[in-house]
Amino acid sequence: MAKLTILEFPDPRLRTRATPVKSVDAELDTLIDDMFETMYDAPGIGLAATQVDVHKRLLVADVSADKSSPYVFINPVIIEKDGVVVTEEGCLSVPGYYEEVERAEHIRVRYLDRKGDDVEMDAEGLLAVCIQHEIDHLDGKLFVDYLSEAKRQRIRKRLVKDKRHRTAEAVTL
Ligand code: NI
Repeated sequence: MAKLTILEFPDPRLRTRATPVKSVDAELDTLIDDMFETMYDAPGIGLAATQVDVHKRLLVADVSADKSSPYVFINPVIIEKDGVVVTEEGCLSVPGYYEEVERAEHIRVRYLDRKGDDVEMDAEGLLAVCIQHEIDHLDGKLFVDYLSEAKRQRIRKRLVKDKRHRTAEAVTL
């Protein structure tokens, strides 16, 4: 297993629209293991392949407190949604920022699981929010896109500035 580098806003690669997974094979299996390791280490409750610069329609999630409910969604499609829920969301690709985002409260999602089997699942609560957030990543969309332009620009400026500071520190001896 290997920990992968997570792309951070405003990296333009996060705007890539991911393409469907064609074969659920050993290479994908390794990527899934690496994504779980990266997500748990961060720590986060969801991670889309887009965030680790792999532009395939794949995401992993585990909203449990004790890493006991790992889910793998390959080529996920939301086929039903209803209700409205507002959650204060954060994102491993937008570190340090949390903002309220409105999403469907309940979804039915169709996907392939890790074995390549076709599955349909109902999700609600945090898992439903997480799946919607991660599918957005696969479409090149970030939670900051739901905010006002002014707020998004403020976050962008601060993150770019933070990155400059980090780079400077790393070469100061
Ligand atoms: Ni995210």
